[in-house]
Amino acid sequence: MRTVAVINQKGGCGKTTTAINLGACLAYLKKRVLVVDLDPQAHATLGFGINPGERRTSIYDLIAPGYAGSPRIGEVIVGLGDHLDLIPSDVMLSTAEPLLLQKEGREYCLCGALEPLHDRYDFIIIDCPPNIGVLTFNALHACTEAIIPMESGLFALHGLAKLLETIHVVDQKRAVPIEAYALATMYDRRTRIAYESLDELRRHMRGHVFKTVINLNVKLKEAAGYGQTILEYDRNSTGFKDYLALARETLSIRKLRKVRAREQDRYLKPVITKDGVLFTYYSPKASRVYVAADFNDWKVDQLPMENVEGTGMWQRLVPLKKGRYEYKFYVDGQWVNDPENPSTVANEFGENSTIEIP
Ligand SMILES: Nc1ncnc2c1ncn2[C@@H]1O[C@H](COP(=O)(O)OP(=O)(O)O)[C@@H](O)[C@H]1O
Ligand SMILES: [Mg+2]
Repeated sequence: MRTVAVINQKGGCGKTTTAINLGACLAYLKKRVLVVDLDPQAHATLGFGINPGERRTSIYDLIAPGYAGSPRIGEVIVGLGDHLDLIPSDVMLSTAEPLLLQKEGREYCLCGALEPLHDRYDFIIIDCPPNIGVLTFNALHACTEAIIPMESGLFALHGLAKLLETIHVVDQKRAVPIEAYALATMYDRRTRIAYESLDELRRHMRGHVFKTVINLNVKLKEAAGYGQTILEYDRNSTGFKDYLALARETLSIRKLRKVRAREQDRYLKPVITKDGVLFTYYSPKASRVYVAADFNDWKVDQLPMENVEGTGMWQRLVPLKKGRYEYKFYVDGQWVNDPENPSTVANEFGENSTIEIP
């Protein structure tokens, strides 16, 4: 089971729209999906056409401490249709925050509450509130991955850096790091700034950005207003096509291979693993990248690097015995040193990058 936190401390960037419609589209693709509304504003609950407060129980009852006789999880879940369920929110949730703050293990309440559901669903999607408080920390501890919606053209990269830092803090306490991917939302193809900012986002996220972009589409707004998913509201809309594409891309993202070591998301330096050296070169614009080195007699076309999931992150795992090696990347016909590796050695042509396997 995969648990996806839809997170961004900025309001209005498309979190709730993404949680609702990605959830609905995954269910459409026959995955068993539970959407958890973790925002006291209950926009996701409303967006599914459920009146917050109308139900006796909500997410509040599952995670707020000191509740006498917690309900069984089955009583909290609302069935929305084939393969799709919701744990609704209500405004009471805003009172959970100060209660949680007094509690030991306050960041793990959601994780514990969702535990019994692990074999009932393929996906749990958590719609987070627009701040980094105790609720958001609960989502981060409960998730396997995070989607960060970013409003195109307005990418607040400073805010993003802060959010990634928060995720990093949580990662330190986890056995497996969170896989975080940004998603460009409200994308306006007619503007140049949308295109340019997407390029910048890719750079900032080191390629961890969905290839799918969510276009600006008024149908998405209308659907939410009617308390419907885009699937129910208009299947001819761009909004439906985009969220269906996002659902398919989400399914195709496999856990990065084991050898993509933990550091890999943050550093592009070569990583020495027991299976060999993982070389990485980042360039979203390149169309062919090879690694060439003294260990393969500098053959330029022998060791092509893979553009990982089309993200612009080029990688190649090369089995190597211990020793010291010189290498370069051959990028669209140009020799390039490894920009992330400070160790180099000078020679008659200039210099090469070097790596030592102890
Ligand atoms: N791709 C889109 N095109 C047009 N309107 C959108 C799109 N995505 C979201 N919206 C609208 O923008 C507003 C904010 O989106 P929402 O998903 O509620 O953001 P958040 O949950 O991050 O606060 C809502 O009115 C929503 O209907
Ligand atoms: Mg929201």
